[in-house]
Amino acid sequence: MQVPFKDIQNTNLPDQQRIQEDYRRMLEDALAIKRKAIAERLYTPQALEGLPASAVVAALGVGNPVAFTDIHPGDRILDIGCGGGIDSLLAARRVGSGGEVIGVDMTPEMLRLARKNAEAAGLSNLEFVEGVAEDMSFIPDESLDEVISNGVINLTSDKKRVFAEIQRVLRTGGCAVLSDIVVNGKIPPEVLTNPAAWSG
Ligand SMILES: C[S@@+](CC[C@H](N)C(=O)[O-])C[C@H]1O[C@@H](n2cnc3c(N)ncnc32)[C@H](O)[C@@H]1O
Repeated sequence: MQVPFKDIQNTNLPDQQRIQEDYRRMLEDALAIKRKAIAERLYTPQALEGLPASAVVAALGVGNPVAFTDIHPGDRILDIGCGGGIDSLLAARRVGSGGEVIGVDMTPEMLRLARKNAEAAGLSNLEFVEGVAEDMSFIPDESLDEVISNGVINLTSDKKRVFAEIQRVLRTGGCAVLSDIVVNGKIPPEVLTNPAAWSG
């Protein structure tokens, strides 16, 4: 769907520290109970085949951006808010050894797991970097073929900056495929100001 740019707002978000704490806790829970329900709802059994179990249970997204991305061998891809790395791993399989995937996330525990998952999957064409979507200045201008993101941009503090960053790092003709949640209508203030409604 298309969302008018003027409607992209920075609503009453909990601060980044609170979001990190929530995702730390969710990751611990996911690894402890080995719940595969999110991954099984979003990805086909063929896509999940061969992925490390700890990548599958750590899936916390809202869609499957890789399935909608026209990825070619040799492409360079950025996964914003990569979490435990499920989409980065799927993209890395598609770009092959001549391509590269960069996963960026602000939560160190997520990055540690993503690196472990890449190693367990036997993939070396991935790099996981700690950083925020609002400032990815460590990525050169126009250096990427595709950007993907899954369930992250709704959590970012400055959405216009995130979109400006996506535009900056993509080469001319590059493409962004974003799975996320958008608001269509009014949300009651008690929900909007409840941190658990954002990442709980
Ligand atoms: C809903 S999880 C999705 C993780 C992953 N994309 C997936 O599909 O499993 C959101 C992730 O975004 C990260 N995150 C939230 N806000 C961020 C920001 N401003 N910059 C970078 N990462 C962020 C969190 O640390 C968390 O790992």
